[in-house]
Amino acid sequence: MFHTPLALLALALAASASPVLQVRDNLVRLPMAKRVNLTGSGSLLDHDQLRAQYLRDQANALLDGVPLSILSDVAATNKVVDYVVNVRVGSPATTYSLLVDTGSSNTWVGAGKAYVPTSSSMKTGDRVSVTYGSGSFSGSEFIDAVSFGIDLTIPKQSIGVASSSTGFGGVDGIIGIGPVDLTLNTLSPHSRSTIPTVTDNLFAQGTISQNLVAVSFEPTQQRTNTNGELTFGGIDQSKFTGSITYAPLTTVSPASKFFGINQSIRYGTSTPILSSTAGIVDTGTTLTLISTDALTRYMAATGAVSDARTGLLRLTNAQFANLQSLFFNINGVNFELTPNAQIWPRALNTAIGGDKKSVYLIVNSIGTSTGKGLDFINGMTFLERFYSVYDTTNKRVGFATTLFTNSNSN
Ligand SMILES: *[C@@H]1O[C@H](CO)[C@@H](O)[C@H](O)[C@H]1NC(C)=O
Ligand SMILES: *[C@@H]1O[C@H](CO)[C@@H](O)[C@H](O)[C@H]1NC(C)=O
Repeated sequence: MFHTPLALLALALAASASPVLQVRDNLVRLPMAKRVNLTGSGSLLDHDQLRAQYLRDQANALLDGVPLSILSDVAATNKVVDYVVNVRVGSPATTYSLLVDTGSSNTWVGAGKAYVPTSSSMKTGDRVSVTYGSGSFSGSEFIDAVSFGIDLTIPKQSIGVASSSTGFGGVDGIIGIGPVDLTLNTLSPHSRSTIPTVTDNLFAQGTISQNLVAVSFEPTQQRTNTNGELTFGGIDQSKFTGSITYAPLTTVSPASKFFGINQSIRYGTSTPILSSTAGIVDTGTTLTLISTDALTRYMAATGAVSDARTGLLRLTNAQFANLQSLFFNINGVNFELTPNAQIWPRALNTAIGGDKKSVYLIVNSIGTSTGKGLDFINGMTFLERFYSVYDTTNKRVGFATTLFTNSNSN
Protein backbone atom coordinates (compact mmCIF):
# COMPACT_ATOMS: atom_id res chain seq x y z
CA MET A 1 0.00 0.00 0.00
CA PHE A 2 2.80 2.43 0.86
CA HIS A 3 4.96 1.82 -2.17
CA THR A 4 3.24 4.03 -4.66
CA PRO A 5 2.94 7.19 -2.58
CA LEU A 6 6.53 6.93 -1.40
CA ALA A 7 7.79 6.43 -4.92
CA LEU A 8 5.79 9.44 -6.06
CA LEU A 9 7.13 11.51 -3.19
CA ALA A 10 10.69 10.55 -4.10
CA LEU A 11 10.05 11.55 -7.69
CA ALA A 12 8.53 14.86 -6.66
CA LEU A 13 11.51 15.62 -4.44
CA ALA A 14 13.92 14.76 -7.22
CA ALA A 15 12.03 17.04 -9.59
CA SER A 16 11.92 19.99 -7.22
CA ALA A 17 15.63 19.69 -6.49
CA SER A 18 16.57 19.72 -10.16
CA PRO A 19 18.09 23.03 -11.22
CA VAL A 20 17.31 22.56 -14.91
CA LEU A 21 13.53 22.85 -14.59
CA GLN A 22 12.48 26.20 -16.06
CA VAL A 23 9.05 27.54 -16.82
CA ARG A 24 9.25 28.36 -20.50
CA ASP A 25 6.85 31.26 -20.76
CA ASN A 26 9.26 33.99 -21.85
CA LEU A 27 8.74 35.86 -18.62
CA VAL A 28 11.74 37.70 -17.26
CA ARG A 29 11.64 36.82 -13.58
CA LEU A 30 13.87 38.63 -11.13
CA PRO A 31 14.02 37.37 -7.57
CA MET A 32 13.71 40.19 -5.04
CA ALA A 33 15.14 40.09 -1.55
CA LYS A 34 13.36 41.87 1.28
CA ARG A 35 15.52 43.45 3.95
CA VAL A 36 14.47 45.01 7.22
CA ASN A 37 17.32 47.05 8.64
CA LEU A 38 16.65 50.16 10.68
CA THR A 39 19.86 52.15 10.79
CA GLY A 40 20.58 55.79 11.31
CA SER A 41 18.09 58.19 12.80
CA GLY A 42 14.36 58.37 12.39
CA SER A 43 11.53 55.89 12.73
CA LEU A 44 9.91 53.79 10.06
CA LEU A 45 7.08 56.31 10.01
CA ASP A 46 9.48 59.25 9.56
CA HIS A 47 10.93 57.50 6.52
CA ASP A 48 7.58 56.90 4.93
CA GLN A 49 6.21 60.36 5.65
CA LEU A 50 9.34 61.93 4.13
CA ARG A 51 8.81 59.67 1.14
CA ALA A 52 5.19 60.82 0.80
CA GLN A 53 6.25 64.45 1.03
CA TYR A 54 8.96 63.88 -1.57
CA LEU A 55 6.50 62.22 -3.96
CA ARG A 56 4.10 65.16 -3.66
CA ASP A 57 6.85 67.74 -4.06
CA GLN A 58 8.32 65.84 -7.00
CA ALA A 59 4.98 65.66 -8.80
CA ASN A 60 4.16 69.29 -8.12
CA ALA A 61 7.56 70.37 -9.41
CA LEU A 62 6.91 68.38 -12.58
CA LEU A 63 3.49 69.98 -12.96
CA ASP A 64 5.05 73.40 -12.56
CA GLY A 65 7.82 72.44 -14.97
CA VAL A 66 10.56 73.28 -12.50
CA PRO A 67 13.28 71.10 -10.98
CA LEU A 68 12.57 69.74 -7.54
CA SER A 69 14.48 72.04 -5.25
CA ILE A 70 12.99 71.21 -1.88
CA LEU A 71 15.70 69.51 0.07
CA SER A 72 14.50 67.80 3.18
CA ASP A 73 15.83 69.44 6.33
CA VAL A 74 15.75 66.09 8.08
CA ALA A 75 19.12 64.34 8.09
CA ALA A 76 19.28 61.67 5.45
CA THR A 77 18.53 58.28 6.88
CA ASN A 78 18.81 54.88 5.36
CA LYS A 79 15.76 53.08 4.24
CA VAL A 80 14.36 50.74 6.82
CA VAL A 81 12.69 48.15 4.65
CA ASP A 82 13.38 47.55 1.02
CA TYR A 83 13.17 45.04 -1.75
CA VAL A 84 16.32 44.70 -3.86
CA VAL A 85 17.20 42.93 -7.10
CA ASN A 86 20.54 42.04 -8.61
CA VAL A 87 21.27 43.90 -11.83
CA ARG A 88 24.43 43.42 -13.91
CA VAL A 89 26.05 46.40 -15.58
CA GLY A 90 28.88 46.46 -18.11
CA SER A 91 30.78 43.88 -20.13
CA PRO A 92 32.30 42.09 -18.32
CA ALA A 93 29.53 42.84 -15.84
CA THR A 94 29.56 43.99 -12.26
CA THR A 95 26.52 42.98 -10.20
CA TYR A 96 24.73 45.66 -8.20
CA SER A 97 22.03 45.31 -5.60
CA LEU A 98 19.34 47.88 -6.47
CA LEU A 99 16.17 49.03 -4.70
CA VAL A 100 13.02 48.31 -6.70
CA ASP A 101 11.06 51.55 -6.93
CA THR A 102 7.79 52.13 -8.79
CA GLY A 103 7.71 55.68 -7.41
CA SER A 104 10.80 56.92 -9.23
CA SER A 105 12.21 56.25 -12.68
CA ASN A 106 15.96 56.86 -12.76
CA THR A 107 18.12 53.75 -12.62
CA TRP A 108 21.50 54.35 -11.08
CA VAL A 109 24.42 52.66 -9.35
CA GLY A 110 27.40 53.62 -7.26
CA ALA A 111 25.92 54.28 -3.82
CA GLY A 112 27.62 51.23 -2.34
CA LYS A 113 29.76 49.32 -4.80
CA ALA A 114 31.59 51.68 -7.17
CA TYR A 115 30.71 51.73 -10.86
CA VAL A 116 33.23 49.81 -12.96
CA PRO A 117 33.50 51.25 -16.48
CA THR A 118 34.09 48.61 -19.15
CA SER A 119 34.17 48.42 -22.95
CA SER A 120 30.37 48.93 -23.03
CA SER A 121 30.42 52.18 -20.97
CA MET A 122 29.85 55.52 -22.63
CA LYS A 123 29.55 58.81 -20.82
CA THR A 124 26.66 60.88 -22.19
CA GLY A 125 28.01 64.24 -21.05
CA ASP A 126 24.99 64.95 -18.85
CA ARG A 127 25.07 65.44 -15.11
CA VAL A 128 22.27 63.69 -13.23
CA SER A 129 20.81 64.31 -9.82
CA VAL A 130 17.72 63.10 -8.01
CA THR A 131 16.43 64.00 -4.56
CA TYR A 132 14.39 61.39 -2.70
CA GLY A 133 12.50 61.64 0.55
CA SER A 134 15.32 60.37 2.69
CA GLY A 135 18.30 60.63 0.41
CA SER A 136 19.70 61.86 -2.87
CA PHE A 137 22.35 61.16 -5.42
CA SER A 138 24.22 63.10 -8.06
CA GLY A 139 26.76 62.14 -10.64
CA SER A 140 27.17 61.50 -14.36
CA GLU A 141 24.87 59.79 -16.83
CA PHE A 142 26.24 56.82 -18.78
CA ILE A 143 24.97 54.49 -21.46
CA ASP A 144 25.87 50.92 -20.61
CA ALA A 145 24.79 47.30 -21.05
CA VAL A 146 22.35 46.26 -18.31
CA SER A 147 21.44 42.61 -17.75
CA PHE A 148 18.97 40.81 -15.55
CA GLY A 149 17.97 37.29 -14.78
CA ILE A 150 19.44 34.46 -16.78
CA ASP A 151 20.47 36.06 -20.07
CA LEU A 152 18.48 39.18 -20.67
CA THR A 153 20.36 42.28 -21.78
CA ILE A 154 19.60 45.86 -22.66
CA PRO A 155 22.67 46.79 -24.74
CA LYS A 156 22.20 50.53 -24.35
CA GLN A 157 20.55 51.57 -21.11
CA SER A 158 21.01 55.10 -19.80
CA ILE A 159 21.98 54.90 -16.14
CA GLY A 160 23.17 57.31 -13.50
CA VAL A 161 26.52 56.80 -11.84
CA ALA A 162 26.67 58.40 -8.42
CA SER A 163 29.68 60.46 -7.45
CA SER A 164 27.90 61.29 -4.23
CA SER A 165 24.83 59.89 -2.52
CA THR A 166 23.22 60.01 0.90
CA GLY A 167 20.67 57.77 2.55
CA PHE A 168 21.38 54.55 0.66
CA GLY A 169 23.39 52.42 3.08
CA GLY A 170 23.53 48.77 2.18
CA VAL A 171 22.41 49.14 -1.45
CA ASP A 172 24.16 50.16 -4.64
CA GLY A 173 21.40 52.31 -6.14
CA ILE A 174 17.88 52.15 -7.52
CA ILE A 175 16.11 50.49 -10.40
CA GLY A 176 13.39 53.08 -11.07
CA ILE A 177 10.43 51.47 -12.82
CA GLY A 178 7.90 54.27 -12.46
CA PRO A 179 6.45 56.38 -15.30
CA VAL A 180 9.18 57.81 -17.52
CA ASP A 181 8.11 61.43 -16.99
CA LEU A 182 9.52 61.23 -13.47
CA THR A 183 12.96 61.44 -15.09
CA LEU A 184 12.24 64.96 -16.39
CA ASN A 185 14.53 67.61 -14.92
CA THR A 186 16.99 65.05 -13.58
CA LEU A 187 19.59 65.59 -16.32
CA SER A 188 21.57 68.69 -17.07
CA PRO A 189 21.97 70.29 -19.48
CA HIS A 190 19.28 68.08 -21.13
CA SER A 191 16.70 68.77 -18.43
CA ARG A 192 13.78 68.52 -20.87
CA SER A 193 14.75 65.00 -21.95
CA THR A 194 13.28 61.92 -20.33
CA ILE A 195 15.40 58.83 -19.75
CA PRO A 196 13.72 55.63 -20.97
CA THR A 197 13.38 53.21 -18.07
CA VAL A 198 14.57 49.62 -18.27
CA THR A 199 10.97 48.56 -18.91
CA ASP A 200 10.67 51.10 -21.75
CA ASN A 201 13.85 49.74 -23.35
CA LEU A 202 12.89 46.07 -22.98
CA PHE A 203 9.63 47.00 -24.70
CA ALA A 204 11.24 49.16 -27.39
CA GLN A 205 13.77 46.45 -28.31
CA GLY A 206 10.99 43.84 -28.53
CA THR A 207 12.14 41.70 -25.62
CA ILE A 208 8.75 42.10 -23.96
CA SER A 209 5.47 42.57 -25.82
CA GLN A 210 3.81 44.86 -23.29
CA ASN A 211 5.25 47.78 -21.35
CA LEU A 212 4.36 46.26 -18.02
CA VAL A 213 5.91 45.06 -14.78
CA ALA A 214 4.37 42.87 -12.12
CA VAL A 215 5.37 42.52 -8.50
CA SER A 216 5.00 39.65 -6.09
CA PHE A 217 5.82 40.42 -2.48
CA GLU A 218 5.13 38.03 0.36
CA PRO A 219 4.93 38.56 4.10
CA THR A 220 7.92 37.32 6.09
CA GLN A 221 9.02 37.09 9.71
CA GLN A 222 12.71 37.27 8.81
CA ARG A 223 14.91 40.33 8.45
CA THR A 224 16.13 39.18 5.07
CA ASN A 225 14.26 36.88 2.75
CA THR A 226 14.39 36.48 -1.02
CA ASN A 227 10.64 36.06 -1.26
CA GLY A 228 9.74 38.63 -3.91
CA GLU A 229 9.61 38.48 -7.68
CA LEU A 230 9.60 41.15 -10.34
CA THR A 231 8.52 40.24 -13.87
CA PHE A 232 8.83 42.33 -17.00
CA GLY A 233 6.32 42.14 -19.81
CA GLY A 234 3.92 39.67 -18.27
CA ILE A 235 2.28 38.34 -15.16
CA ASP A 236 3.31 35.20 -13.32
CA GLN A 237 0.22 33.00 -13.01
CA SER A 238 1.81 31.04 -10.19
CA LYS A 239 1.93 34.11 -7.94
CA PHE A 240 -1.76 34.96 -7.60
CA THR A 241 -5.17 33.39 -7.18
CA GLY A 242 -8.37 34.20 -9.08
CA SER A 243 -8.19 36.95 -11.67
CA ILE A 244 -6.59 40.37 -11.84
CA THR A 245 -8.76 43.42 -11.27
CA TYR A 246 -7.52 46.40 -13.23
CA ALA A 247 -8.19 50.03 -12.41
CA PRO A 248 -7.49 52.83 -14.89
CA LEU A 249 -4.64 55.16 -13.95
CA THR A 250 -6.20 58.08 -12.13
CA THR A 251 -6.56 61.40 -13.89
CA VAL A 252 -6.27 63.26 -10.58
CA SER A 253 -3.07 65.19 -10.04
CA PRO A 254 -0.52 64.76 -8.51
CA ALA A 255 -1.28 61.01 -8.14
CA SER A 256 -1.47 60.87 -11.95
CA LYS A 257 2.29 61.40 -12.16
CA PHE A 258 2.82 57.96 -10.59
CA PHE A 259 1.04 54.62 -10.71
CA GLY A 260 -2.03 56.32 -9.29
CA ILE A 261 -5.56 54.99 -8.88
CA ASN A 262 -8.88 55.94 -7.33
CA GLN A 263 -9.82 53.97 -4.22
CA SER A 264 -12.11 54.10 -1.21
CA ILE A 265 -11.53 52.42 2.15
CA ARG A 266 -14.05 50.99 4.60
CA TYR A 267 -13.47 49.45 8.03
CA GLY A 268 -15.53 46.39 8.93
CA THR A 269 -19.04 46.17 7.53
CA SER A 270 -19.96 49.83 7.42
CA THR A 271 -17.46 52.34 8.80
CA PRO A 272 -16.22 54.69 6.05
CA ILE A 273 -12.53 55.55 6.43
CA LEU A 274 -11.71 57.22 3.09
CA SER A 275 -14.28 58.12 0.44
CA SER A 276 -13.30 57.57 -3.18
CA THR A 277 -10.16 59.56 -3.87
CA ALA A 278 -6.84 59.41 -5.70
CA GLY A 279 -3.59 58.01 -4.40
CA ILE A 280 -0.77 55.78 -5.52
CA VAL A 281 0.67 52.29 -5.37
CA ASP A 282 4.34 52.39 -4.40
CA THR A 283 6.91 49.67 -3.80
CA GLY A 284 9.21 52.28 -2.21
CA THR A 285 6.90 52.99 0.74
CA THR A 286 6.76 50.44 3.55
CA LEU A 287 3.54 51.32 5.35
CA THR A 288 0.05 51.88 4.00
CA LEU A 289 -0.54 55.60 4.38
CA ILE A 290 -3.90 57.40 4.38
CA SER A 291 -4.91 61.04 4.80
CA THR A 292 -4.90 62.49 8.32
CA ASP A 293 -8.70 62.66 8.63
CA ALA A 294 -9.03 59.08 7.38
CA LEU A 295 -6.47 58.01 9.97
CA THR A 296 -8.46 59.73 12.72
CA ARG A 297 -11.50 57.66 11.70
CA TYR A 298 -9.41 54.50 11.63
CA MET A 299 -8.02 55.21 15.10
CA ALA A 300 -11.53 55.85 16.44
CA ALA A 301 -12.79 52.62 14.90
CA THR A 302 -9.92 50.46 16.16
CA GLY A 303 -9.02 52.20 19.42
CA ALA A 304 -5.38 52.42 18.29
CA VAL A 305 -3.03 54.91 19.91
CA SER A 306 0.20 56.35 18.61
CA ASP A 307 3.38 54.70 19.89
CA ALA A 308 6.14 57.19 20.55
CA ARG A 309 9.09 54.86 19.94
CA THR A 310 8.12 53.44 16.54
CA GLY A 311 5.76 56.16 15.35
CA LEU A 312 3.32 53.39 14.50
CA LEU A 313 -0.18 52.91 15.86
CA ARG A 314 -0.46 50.36 18.65
CA LEU A 315 -3.30 48.11 19.80
CA THR A 316 -3.83 46.21 23.03
CA ASN A 317 -4.28 42.47 22.63
CA ALA A 318 -7.99 42.89 23.38
CA GLN A 319 -8.32 45.54 20.65
CA PHE A 320 -6.45 43.30 18.23
CA ALA A 321 -8.84 40.44 19.01
CA ASN A 322 -11.68 42.76 17.96
CA LEU A 323 -9.98 44.23 14.90
CA GLN A 324 -12.12 44.10 11.75
CA SER A 325 -10.96 43.85 8.16
CA LEU A 326 -10.13 46.94 6.16
CA PHE A 327 -11.65 46.90 2.67
CA PHE A 328 -9.91 48.73 -0.18
CA ASN A 329 -12.42 49.26 -2.97
CA ILE A 330 -10.58 49.49 -6.28
CA ASN A 331 -12.68 49.82 -9.41
CA GLY A 332 -15.66 48.18 -7.72
CA VAL A 333 -13.77 45.24 -6.22
CA ASN A 334 -13.02 44.95 -2.51
CA PHE A 335 -9.50 43.96 -1.49
CA GLU A 336 -9.66 42.82 2.10
CA LEU A 337 -6.78 43.54 4.45
CA THR A 338 -7.48 41.08 7.25
CA PRO A 339 -6.72 41.96 10.88
CA ASN A 340 -3.46 40.00 10.64
CA ALA A 341 -2.53 41.86 7.44
CA GLN A 342 -3.02 45.18 9.23
CA ILE A 343 -0.31 44.48 11.81
CA TRP A 344 3.47 44.67 11.59
CA PRO A 345 5.00 41.17 11.79
CA ARG A 346 5.52 40.73 15.52
CA ALA A 347 8.73 38.77 14.97
CA LEU A 348 10.16 42.01 13.49
CA ASN A 349 8.94 44.40 16.20
CA THR A 350 12.40 44.83 17.68
CA ALA A 351 13.88 45.43 14.21
CA ILE A 352 11.97 48.72 14.07
CA GLY A 353 12.66 49.75 17.64
CA GLY A 354 9.44 48.31 19.02
CA ASP A 355 8.55 46.15 21.95
CA LYS A 356 8.56 42.39 21.37
CA LYS A 357 5.02 41.80 22.61
CA SER A 358 3.19 44.85 21.27
CA VAL A 359 0.81 44.88 18.34
CA TYR A 360 1.70 47.64 15.86
CA LEU A 361 -0.39 48.61 12.84
CA ILE A 362 0.91 49.14 9.31
CA VAL A 363 -1.69 51.80 8.54
CA ASN A 364 -0.59 55.35 9.27
CA SER A 365 -0.88 58.95 8.18
CA ILE A 366 0.29 60.37 4.86
CA GLY A 367 0.65 63.73 6.59
CA THR A 368 -2.02 65.74 4.74
CA SER A 369 -5.82 65.83 4.77
CA THR A 370 -8.12 64.33 2.12
CA GLY A 371 -8.52 66.24 -1.11
CA LYS A 372 -4.88 66.84 -2.00
CA GLY A 373 -4.87 64.55 -5.03
CA LEU A 374 -2.56 62.04 -3.34
CA ASP A 375 -4.52 60.85 -0.34
CA PHE A 376 -3.15 57.35 0.14
CA ILE A 377 -0.12 55.19 -0.62
CA ASN A 378 -0.63 51.46 -0.88
CA GLY A 379 2.89 50.50 0.13
CA MET A 380 4.71 47.20 0.45
CA THR A 381 2.72 46.11 3.51
CA PHE A 382 -0.38 46.22 1.27
CA LEU A 383 1.50 44.70 -1.67
CA GLU A 384 2.66 41.76 0.45
CA ARG A 385 -0.98 40.67 0.48
CA PHE A 386 -1.91 41.37 -3.16
CA TYR A 387 -0.12 40.74 -6.44
CA SER A 388 0.25 44.00 -8.39
CA VAL A 389 0.60 44.82 -12.08
CA TYR A 390 1.87 48.16 -13.43
CA ASP A 391 0.62 48.29 -17.00
CA THR A 392 1.92 51.32 -18.88
CA THR A 393 0.70 50.05 -22.27
CA ASN A 394 -2.93 49.92 -21.13
CA LYS A 395 -2.66 52.76 -18.58
CA ARG A 396 -3.87 50.69 -15.66
CA VAL A 397 -2.83 49.06 -12.41
CA GLY A 398 -4.00 45.57 -11.49
CA PHE A 399 -4.36 43.63 -8.27
CA ALA A 400 -5.10 40.04 -7.40
CA THR A 401 -5.32 37.97 -4.26
CA THR A 402 -2.50 35.54 -3.46
CA LEU A 403 -1.88 32.54 -1.24
CA PHE A 404 -0.78 35.08 1.39
CA THR A 405 -3.78 37.42 1.30
CA ASN A 406 -5.41 35.73 4.27
CA SER A 407 -2.36 34.18 5.91
CA ASN A 408 -1.71 34.79 9.60
CA SER A 409 2.03 35.20 9.18
CA ASN A 410 2.19 38.47 11.10
C1 LIG B 1 22.22 47.33 7.81
O1 LIG B 1 22.62 48.56 7.24
C2 LIG B 1 23.97 48.91 7.54
C3 LIG B 1 24.27 50.29 6.99
O2 LIG B 1 23.25 50.85 6.30
C4 LIG B 1 24.89 47.87 6.95
O3 LIG B 1 26.23 48.21 7.23
C5 LIG B 1 24.54 46.52 7.52
O4 LIG B 1 25.35 45.54 6.92
C6 LIG B 1 23.09 46.20 7.30
N1 LIG B 1 22.75 44.96 7.97
C7 LIG B 1 22.11 43.97 7.32
C8 LIG B 1 21.78 42.77 8.17
O5 LIG B 1 21.80 44.04 6.16
C1 LIG C 1 -11.13 59.34 -10.25
O1 LIG C 1 -11.80 60.26 -9.41
C2 LIG C 1 -11.95 61.58 -9.96
C3 LIG C 1 -12.68 62.43 -8.95
O2 LIG C 1 -12.09 62.34 -7.70
C4 LIG C 1 -12.71 61.52 -11.26
O3 LIG C 1 -12.71 62.80 -11.86
C5 LIG C 1 -12.06 60.52 -12.21
O4 LIG C 1 -12.85 60.38 -13.36
C6 LIG C 1 -11.95 59.18 -11.52
N1 LIG C 1 -11.41 58.15 -12.40
C7 LIG C 1 -10.20 58.22 -12.98
C8 LIG C 1 -9.81 57.08 -13.84
O5 LIG C 1 -9.44 59.14 -12.82
